[in-house]
Amino acid sequence: MSRRGRVEEADLGCRTGVAPVSGIRNYAIEVYLELQLEARRGEPSKIMETGGLPVLPRFKLVLAVRSVIQTAVSNPFQLGVLGSGKGSNFVAIAEAIAAGKIPAEVAVVLSDVEHAGILSHARDRKLPAQFIPPGKFRTKLDEESERAFVSVMQSAQVDLVVLAGFMRVLKGEFLRAFEGRIVNIHPSLLPSFPGLEAWKQALDHGVKVTGCTVHFVDAGVDSGPIIGQQTVPVLDTDTPETLHQRIHAAEHELYPKCVAAIARGQISVQGRKVIWKS
Ligand code: GRF
Repeated sequence: MSRRGRVEEADLGCRTGVAPVSGIRNYAIEVYLELQLEARRGEPSKIMETGGLPVLPRFKLVLAVRSVIQTAVSNPFQLGVLGSGKGSNFVAIAEAIAAGKIPAEVAVVLSDVEHAGILSHARDRKLPAQFIPPGKFRTKLDEESERAFVSVMQSAQVDLVVLAGFMRVLKGEFLRAFEGRIVNIHPSLLPSFPGLEAWKQALDHGVKVTGCTVHFVDAGVDSGPIIGQQTVPVLDTDTPETLHQRIHAAEHELYPKCVAAIARGQISVQGRKVIWKS
């Protein structure tokens, strides 16, 4: 867990550890207001000694908090992106960051597919991008590969792992290393149609409305707490391709919004429920 995540969890009781700045900022504002009150009362400050060191137990964290805020400002929320395909969701997120809509940076982009489009998109943007061989399995990473993915993400001090079309199931070590800090986008309204080709499953089933879902990743398949969903109507004239195309367009709107909310510390998780704080 990143340094910011640890401070947040230990000192501010944040459940997921993915809301690094806002709680700390509120705490610092509280301290600042307290200092102003003391000044107004004309009392010698109980908070700061002459040398500026905190004396009240409650304010012992002031300096640490200040340095955490400085770290957060100079080192924004870091995203680690994993993808196996063309990377259009990654592009949507990168563009939203560039437009100032997500207060975050892409720390690294990793792929299990050597020539995946997502790696070229990252390199075009001068972002660190790396292929890591997945090992002998088809649907998961082997142990050595999973260790390599985790190690690169940890060295890059990633706050949130963003799965953008990553076609392998993440197992124990990865989930433990980034518990509560991995998100995925799925092309259906979960819990309907988990798994592969969800748009085709929806069309074959005859539903009138489908869409996409952003969710936290747990040990199951497409089963973690739901962060956001966007609907897409199914037309009588739809083919799997036309429906998939419209779902993709909806994904490009939904995913950046959800990642932005997490980076801003607006998301908390209560059991299966994800709460959006304003
Ligand atoms: C998307 O349809 C997403 O829902 C699924 O994988 C696809 C990735 O597409 N998880 P892209 O690589 O982002 O274009």
